[in-house]
Amino acid sequence: MKVRITKDRLKKLSSRRWVERQLNDPFVAAAKKQGYRSRAAFKLIEIDDKFKLIRKARTILDLGAAPGGWSQVAAERACDGANERKLVASDLLDIAPINGTEFVKGDFNDEEVVRRILGVLGDKPDLILSDMAPNTVGHAKTDHIRIISLVKNAATFVLNNLAFGGSFVVKVLQGGGEQKLLADLKVSFGKVTHFKPKSSRKESSELYLIAAGFKE
Ligand SMILES: C[S@@+](CC[C@H](N)C(=O)[O-])C[C@H]1O[C@@H](n2cnc3c(N)ncnc32)[C@H](O)[C@@H]1O
Repeated sequence: MKVRITKDRLKKLSSRRWVERQLNDPFVAAAKKQGYRSRAAFKLIEIDDKFKLIRKARTILDLGAAPGGWSQVAAERACDGANERKLVASDLLDIAPINGTEFVKGDFNDEEVVRRILGVLGDKPDLILSDMAPNTVGHAKTDHIRIISLVKNAATFVLNNLAFGGSFVVKVLQGGGEQKLLADLKVSFGKVTHFKPKSSRKESSELYLIAAGFKE
């Protein structure tokens, strides 16, 4: 006889798996211990340890910032003796304030939100971080299309607004789309690399593109 799993049971199973995974995840424990709001903070730490982008930047934009792990790392690493550093974070969701960081709430796909971000930035940013990921609906193809369109919007924004010589870090999903973006970015940046931090779960198809030396 076929065993049918109801939607409710499936939901319970996946949330139990999520709780177990959280409890056994060393990066979740380390984030808690070190006061980071998300385990994602370690991804940016690994990226920045390797590519050394934050310290050089004067104006940093963090897209998809909630709950704020990346902004915390950017604020820690960018603050070295420079009052004139500017950090702007943005997300659909609210975030609790982070010292020295201005926040714009809203959907990045909305032109009005983009205008507000540009207004708060004032100057062209020289580092744009995007860890944006739409909520998954569980249908791989749809999820993929949604993140690709968000990443495309982020890339268009970057090409129009990044300062000369600036850098762009963006989360993409492997399996279509990221190769084209990588090729497109290579036209406008001196160096483009992909990087999978150790703190990014192996089973996740996420990957980061690191583009440095914007040529305008
Ligand atoms: C993986 S989380 C980011 C984690 C964050 N980097 C950190 O370190 O805490 C992805 C974020 O992207 C945001 N996001 C998804 N779609 C968005 C959109 N259209 N506009 C703005 N933010 C969006 C989500 O609200 C979510 O907070």
